[in-house]
Amino acid sequence: MTVSTLNRSERRKMLIVYGSTLALIASIIACTKSLKYWLEMGDEMIISLKYQLLGMKENIMDIVRAKYNKTDFPCKTGCVAVVTGGSRGIGASVVKMLLQCDMNVIIGCRKIKNGEETVKQIRESGVTGGNAVIYELDNSSLGCVKKFANNIKENYEKVHVLINNAGIMFTPYGETSDGFEQQWVVNYLSHFLLTAMLMPLLCNAGTFENSARIINVSSCAHLLGVINFDDINYYKSKSFPTKKAYAQSKLAQVIFTRMLQQIFEKKKYPIKIYAVHPGIVNTDLFEHTSIQKLPLFKDIFFKSPDKGAITTVYVAVNKEVENRGGSYFSNCLETAVNPIANDVVTQEKLLHLSLEQTLLTDIFQYL
Ligand SMILES: NC(=O)c1ccc[n+]([C@@H]2O[C@H](COP(=O)([O-])OP(=O)(O)OC[C@H]3O[C@@H](n4cnc5c(N)ncnc54)[C@H](OP(=O)(O)O)[C@@H]3O)[C@@H](O)[C@H]2O)c1
Repeated sequence: MTVSTLNRSERRKMLIVYGSTLALIASIIACTKSLKYWLEMGDEMIISLKYQLLGMKENIMDIVRAKYNKTDFPCKTGCVAVVTGGSRGIGASVVKMLLQCDMNVIIGCRKIKNGEETVKQIRESGVTGGNAVIYELDNSSLGCVKKFANNIKENYEKVHVLINNAGIMFTPYGETSDGFEQQWVVNYLSHFLLTAMLMPLLCNAGTFENSARIINVSSCAHLLGVINFDDINYYKSKSFPTKKAYAQSKLAQVIFTRMLQQIFEKKKYPIKIYAVHPGIVNTDLFEHTSIQKLPLFKDIFFKSPDKGAITTVYVAVNKEVENRGGSYFSNCLETAVNPIANDVVTQEKLLHLSLEQTLLTDIFQYL
């Protein structure tokens, strides 16, 4: 039977069958071509959902555990603290509280003027104790981190408390001058380098009764993280998964905390290192999220920056935590970490990667 022998209705049916088969094949090809894209989209939806659930859970925990979120401000006259990202948000509140402890506080920030304005506001609020100095620090440049550390070394012999607080969240893809994804560098790698460079001053400051302390301001987001060792910058992803990249950087801070504490113990250095989750806090950190468009929601449900600073300050100055180095705190309570942070192989891999990326040979090379 040829096409010419078919009647009109049979020809129409045949055209429909051929047409739909072609359309089906075309859509299968289109789907297969972008299968990776669709998988990534699905992944993105899943991680967004996980973030929302985690955020809600942490929000509730902040309310339920509010009574534990408190600290003393012991007198620490003559002690030196370094706070990165100290001119805004949680960092500015941390600076205020450390000044209340009469500490000498070195504020690392991108714009000196902003730091000066913050200190002016702190003084106007009635805090008269301590002393604040402001040094330029851009965490997105490892060169700038080196300058910041050298500046401190030229002017101080001891650092009693180092607070690695500066951070960014969910930023669009951006590479730093050193060629790494910006959340990785600002949140983690710059702080790794700063810690290594200030190690001699921390060692000078610590004693076996009163260790020097390093506090990594991480996040509950670390619970959603993995370290994408093969592709830290997420080059292989079709669209940049910024939420994963943030969680990765925050997990790196917790792994670093766990790993370094063990080394301090083995080497008997008088330094303790801690990680904290400050809570869900009403700051500009959310500028790349839709919640930023709901300021009233943030005002009502999120912690104030002062309340968000309390766990960090508690861990920085409180005697109770002296023997709890390596721990992760939230609302001033020791809290469980992502099990990946305890994996020794992952810890070693991260140490090697971080040394390679910062061009260091050893985390203790400055000692
Ligand atoms: N807010 C929360 O709910 C929350 C929850 C969990 C964890 N955290 C963590 O808490 C820390 C502080 O966040 P926040 O809420 O206070 O955020 P924020 O108000 O946005 O403040 C971020 C701070 O980081 C500094 N910073 C950003 N990029 C920098 C860079 N390239 N070099 C140097 N400093 C830089 C900012 O300084 P500039 O003024 O120069 O921009 C600012 O002082 C972050 O590590 C964040 O991941 C916050």
